[in-house]
Amino acid sequence: MGFSEAQEQLVVSSWKAMKKQDTESIALKFFFRFGIFEIAPGAKQMFSFLRDAGDAPLENHPKLKTHAVAVFVMACESATQLRNTGDVKVREATLKRLGATHVKAGVADAHFEVVKTALLDTIRDAVPDMWTPEMKAAWEEAYDQLAAAIKEEMKKAA
Ligand code: HEM
Repeated sequence: MGFSEAQEQLVVSSWKAMKKQDTESIALKFFFRFGIFEIAPGAKQMFSFLRDAGDAPLENHPKLKTHAVAVFVMACESATQLRNTGDVKVREATLKRLGATHVKAGVADAHFEVVKTALLDTIRDAVPDMWTPEMKAAWEEAYDQLAAAIKEEMKKAA
């Protein structure tokens, strides 16, 4: 399951282009325009800080921005490490914690698919001039590997 230098370049170059833009608003589109909460309404209940948010606009929620940015950053980092080591190398402690957090929050495999689609669509819209099937495949691979590593930890933590 090799991740080539070309694939790493595609992920890193698009990530750099997105970082030059307003990363937070890109991250927010990721969660809203593509309607993670519409596709999976239950997901809102999973976020402890949203359960108590009442009708406050979700767009302004700092913790939700943090989560969206974390998914982007970790997928990008994971892509770099995939090429170097052939494996997802999020630190062991981090991966364990991620497994535990997501199990506790009630996240299911299907949610990872919803988030993946939203992530890919968001990147496509953020860097339309760079977007190619190869770039899509590279991000997809990086995300899938990271998600698989988190899901593995979730099984252990369940
Ligand atoms: C919490 C990353 C996928 C829902 C977190 C945290 C990180 C993170 C860094 C902060 C807590 C911690 O560090 O343990 C990721 C990554 C993902 C991913 C890298 C994919 C590769 C998902 C998916 C969902 C989800 C698919 C479901 C829609 C949550 C929830 C929390 C959380 C509900 C807890 C928020 C709270 O109540 O404090 N995630 N996540 N995550 N994530 Fe994810």
